[in-house]
Amino acid sequence: MEYENILVEQRGKVVIVTLHRPAVLNALNDQLMDELGHALLKFDTDEGVSCIMLTGSEKAFAAGADIGVMAGYSYMDVYKSDFITRNWEHIRNVRKPVIAAVAGYALGGGCELAMMCDFIIAAETAKFGQPEIKLGIIPGAGGTQRLPRAISKAKAMDMCLTARMMDAQEAERAGLVSRVVPAEKLMEEAMAAADSIAAMSLPAVLMAKEAVNRAYETTLSEGLLFERRLFHGTFATEDQKEGMQAFLEKRPSVFKNR
Ligand code: HXC
Repeated sequence: MEYENILVEQRGKVVIVTLHRPAVLNALNDQLMDELGHALLKFDTDEGVSCIMLTGSEKAFAAGADIGVMAGYSYMDVYKSDFITRNWEHIRNVRKPVIAAVAGYALGGGCELAMMCDFIIAAETAKFGQPEIKLGIIPGAGGTQRLPRAISKAKAMDMCLTARMMDAQEAERAGLVSRVVPAEKLMEEAMAAADSIAAMSLPAVLMAKEAVNRAYETTLSEGLLFERRLFHGTFATEDQKEGMQAFLEKRPSVFKNR
C-alpha cells in the first residue's frame, strides 16, 4: 500500500509513523486511518520491529477527525457505516508497544488516538482537548471512556462539557501523559524511550502490555491471576535466564528475543 497521509521511517528496531496532512493540522480522514491501520498491523508482525512511535508535526499531533468530511454526514451515513469503528480500532489490535509523541494540538479524535497508544510523551507545547461539544457532537472514539479512566471523572467531564484544552503540564499532573519534555527534545526523548523498550525481551514487553491493559477490562482478582500466569510464563523464556544471569554477572543483558 502506498502511503500519502503518513510518513514511515525505521530507525533500528523502532518505526516512527508520522501523521502527515499538514494543510489541515493532521485532521484524520478515512484514507489516513486506513493507511495508519495498515502500517501498524504490518509492523506488528514484522520481526525487524520491536516498538512503534506515533507522532505528528510541531503544530499538531492531530486536530481531530476531518470536520470538512463529517459536516455532510447524516445519521444514516454514520449509523450504517458504524462511523468510526471500521478503521479506528486497528491500533487496539497491535501487540507491540505504541508510544505517542505529541506536540501541539491533540484534539477530538486526535486526543482519542493519542489515548489509544500505550503511553504519551508530550512536548511542552502539547494541548489536549475534546472540543466536539462545540460542534454539536460528542467524542466518538473513546474520549468519554478513556479520559475518565486516565484523568478522573471531574477533569474528563470538564473537558468534554466545556471543551477547554489542557496544556502539557496539567496533562502530566492529571496522569494523561507519562512525561513532558522540551519541544525541541520530543523526538530525542521519545526515541530514547522506544530504543530502551526495543532492547528489552520482546515477549516480556508484550506480556507487560497485555497485563497492564487487562487492568482496564477486569476485576482485581482476575487481573492479578492473569498477571501471575503471564509472570510464571516468563520463566520459560531464554530471556529470563539471560536477564537474571546478566544481573548476577554485573553486565548488561543481551536478550535473544527482541
Ligand atoms: C478539518 C481542520 C481541522 C479539522 C484544523 N483544520 N482542524 N480541518 N478538520 N479537525 C484546518 C483548518 O480549517 C485550517 O484550514 C487549517 O487546518 C489550519 O487551522 P486553523 O484553524 O487556521 O489554525 P489555528 O487558528 O492555529 O487553530 C488551530 C485549532 C483549530 C485550534 C486546532 O484549527 C481548531 O479548532 N480545529 C478544530 C478542532 C476540533 O474541533 N477538533 C474536533 C473535531 S471532531 P484552512 O483551509 O482554513 O487553512 C472529532 C470527532 C472525533 O474529532 C469523532 C470520532 C473519531
